[in-house]
Amino acid sequence: MMNILGIDTSCDDTSAAVVADGHRVLSNAVNSQIKLHHPYGGVVPELASREHIRNMVPVVQEALSAAGLKVRDLHGVAITVGPGLIGCLLVGLYYAKGLAYVNHIPLMGINHLEGHILSIFLEEKTPRFPFVALTVSGGHTSLYYVKGFGNYTLLGQTLDDAAGEAFDKVAKILDLGYPGGAVIEKLSQSGQGDKIAFPRAYLSPESLDFSFSGLKTSVALYVSKWREEEKGKGAVKVADIAASFQEAVIDVLAHKLMKARDKTAVSSIVLAGGVACNQALRKRLRDIASEKDVEVYYPRPAYCTDNGAMIAAAGYHRMVRGERASLSMDVRSRFPIQDFLSITPQDT
Ligand code: KG4
Ligand code: ZN
Repeated sequence: MMNILGIDTSCDDTSAAVVADGHRVLSNAVNSQIKLHHPYGGVVPELASREHIRNMVPVVQEALSAAGLKVRDLHGVAITVGPGLIGCLLVGLYYAKGLAYVNHIPLMGINHLEGHILSIFLEEKTPRFPFVALTVSGGHTSLYYVKGFGNYTLLGQTLDDAAGEAFDKVAKILDLGYPGGAVIEKLSQSGQGDKIAFPRAYLSPESLDFSFSGLKTSVALYVSKWREEEKGKGAVKVADIAASFQEAVIDVLAHKLMKARDKTAVSSIVLAGGVACNQALRKRLRDIASEKDVEVYYPRPAYCTDNGAMIAAAGYHRMVRGERASLSMDVRSRFPIQDFLSITPQDT
């Protein structure tokens, strides 16, 4: 059995987990900073870095004790090296380097996006290769063709805002607080998704790229007009705006995902990242999947949002391939998977 400690500090969660053999989660500890950043309506990088410094050691200790393990029981340490906020990534990386060096444990540098793609392998029911994965979160919206562990081809990505970012910005416009995804989802349940025809950016017919900035602007314009003219009349409720926005995002995500499936002829599609928590999105994909001959997979919410377990899973597969990171490894704020794969982990 191989126990890997996975650590992720790429954004506002300090997370550490121990995973056995790349799929059995022994522990998954997360210290969320939502309350800290809530008053600012978004993540404040400096505050996030400082909070990671405070929480790094306790979160790793929590992960180890929940797994019933000591540092000497670890066979590897996997750490996110990008993409993410530089200061935040640095805290995790230097902690992981120290832990691995002092205890003579192999270190693996992991791309955060690879972690999201492989998060589905933390579940019982796993897809067969090849599959198409949609990673959709606050920082990224990308479609990948996944041929095997470590073998990913980018099919399309957002040209501007990420889908989760759009959820967060629309929540801010509607004064619903931060982060916006879950609150918009909840509010949408009492709204009418076809009430307002917000734009869907399908781009060119063959494109597998995304664009959400136009939608966000359209909601902002609508809301300022609605506040002046509509409010109080009751014809359109705030829940209708939330639901109509969510419907527009889901339409585009589902359309592009199925287009990618048709292009690649895969029989499995995987949804990952924070926005994959969204039940309406999951349902839409289940409905489409049952019509077409395709299986849809999504991890439980705790493995959709940022977590150390997905990093440990990715680390396991790098480790069994004999890949090790050197102690000179550095972090990168922008780190497309292709760039990550084109350099050896020793060079990162
Ligand atoms: O993967 P994640 O935890 O962090 C990043 O790597 O960005 O994703 C966080 C994002 C936020 O933008 C949040 O609003 C969104 O995921 N999110 C949701 C839901 N839960 C979280 N979006 C839509 N519906 C949800 N239920
Ligand atoms: Zn993420």
